[in-house]
Amino acid sequence: LASIEVDVSSLQPGMSLTAKWRGKPVFIRNRTDKEVEDAKAVPLEDLKDPVARNANLADDAAANDLDRSAGEGKENWIVMIGSCTHLGCVPLGQAGDFGGWFCPCHGSHYDTAGRIRKGPAPENLPVPTFSFVSDTVIKIG
Ligand code: FES
Repeated sequence: LASIEVDVSSLQPGMSLTAKWRGKPVFIRNRTDKEVEDAKAVPLEDLKDPVARNANLADDAAANDLDRSAGEGKENWIVMIGSCTHLGCVPLGQAGDFGGWFCPCHGSHYDTAGRIRKGPAPENLPVPTFSFVSDTVIKIG
């Protein structure tokens, strides 16, 4: 399937699900306010990869929290391909030094916006093309 629709109505803040799209895991997380605040508090110059890597935005969009998220009014939502940008292992959620995702294969730590902060991975977890088709359904692809 070129695109999929995922019902996220069961995801309360702090809950995630993993969908499968084009053979890859896609992490969808309803972030807590604290997770959003933590990500927003990080200066761009502290980021290893300062680019948003968000297929919905320009290639050079900066990796600020808003542009990593589902955008204005939906900043709590984050949608990312769950494939470590080092060698493609699937990172674990709510783990690692930055409270986001941790890849156990070689120790890459991603923050609550899925941005690489420590370890060998070179890039932020990529955000696929997606949109909310209703308040509770996300179309990916
Ligand atoms: Fe994730 Fe190497 S594949 S750290």
